[in-house]
Amino acid sequence: MITEIAKDVYWVGVVDWAIRKFHGFELSTHRGSTYNAYLIKDEKTVLVDTVWGPFSDRLIANIREIIDPAKLDIVVATHAETDHSGGLPVVMHYAPNATVVVSKRGRESVEGHYHQPWKFQPVQTGDKLSIGKNDLTFIEAAMLHWPDNMFTYLSGRNVLITSDAFGEHYATDFRFNDQVDQEELYEEAIKYYANILTPYSNMVSKKLAEVLALNLPVDVIAPSHGIIWRKDPLQIVRKYQEWAAQKPEKSAVILFDTMWNATRLMAEAIGEGLFAEGVPYKIFHAAVSDRNDVLTEIFKTKAVIIGSPTLNQGLLPTITPILEDLKGLKFQNKVGAAFGSYGWSGESIKHLEEHFAECKIPVVAEAVLAKWQPKEDDLARCRELGRKVGLAVKAG
Ligand code: FEO
Repeated sequence: MITEIAKDVYWVGVVDWAIRKFHGFELSTHRGSTYNAYLIKDEKTVLVDTVWGPFSDRLIANIREIIDPAKLDIVVATHAETDHSGGLPVVMHYAPNATVVVSKRGRESVEGHYHQPWKFQPVQTGDKLSIGKNDLTFIEAAMLHWPDNMFTYLSGRNVLITSDAFGEHYATDFRFNDQVDQEELYEEAIKYYANILTPYSNMVSKKLAEVLALNLPVDVIAPSHGIIWRKDPLQIVRKYQEWAAQKPEKSAVILFDTMWNATRLMAEAIGEGLFAEGVPYKIFHAAVSDRNDVLTEIFKTKAVIIGSPTLNQGLLPTITPILEDLKGLKFQNKVGAAFGSYGWSGESIKHLEEHFAECKIPVVAEAVLAKWQPKEDDLARCRELGRKVGLAVKAG
């Protein structure tokens, strides 16, 4: 259902209620997603972004409700990732003479995906394009979250179209932030930030400062996923400033896996130590928890305590993907600690501490290793580990 989001500016995107895994199978999307595309009518007609390829026909049908797609003059491709550019071949089939406006990095990535001789117009920050009564101004937003991402500002309507920034994977037939459950909205927005944008937080901070310094009047922020921010639209910019600063809550996440419950008992005893220090915590069993949800919790929290039994002189394989994420996402301002059980060799804590070092997460308590099932003194050492981490959390 198309929606006019500002005068002569239409959402012509698609709601994907069913998708539960994104980026292949890398990212969970419990609440589905949307692929937002925007049609701007002026003396020239502009389409900003398309949709994921399998939904191209729906995009064309939506455009057709407003104009004949053959009449498109300009297609702005703010980002080459195929959830937004996948519909380009179909759009360009209908409008072969349209100019494809891209960032400089976008030219390379869009061409690299489609290998088509479209008429490209690369732009850079500050470039303006008159489309009639109003102008489009482009702002490169490299690494929010690919090198090619670009914002598009429509003067006269004060609409800032922001590509992946400020979006969420959140399927809804309501288009605006004031129409949806705020808790759900922010759960999805922070999950998006934590799992996708965290490594680029320094660049996010700089880009937000640069955009705010332009003093553009902004009535609407229109991302390429999820809802459109019209009520206090800058609220999501302020949230991004807060998230980019990575000042975690004074709390802890305990992540473990277990074969016969020994490491689980240790995790729970560590929780008792944190509780004794008044530090809130959450425990996640890696084998049965959603990886992206756990990463979101780790993003929010100060302490990351990880436990694994020793298996084949290493870690349980369910723990290792999240260690890879910890390294790649480059979480800042964390503290860590390791624990684990073993039968005859006991290397797991060494591996965990090596991973913490690689992730530049300082270890603030001596690791606890328990042989076979933990005895009462092992659990006492776990409680002590929890207390020490709790003190570090409170001190931080
Ligand atoms: Fe939503 Fe980076 O694509």
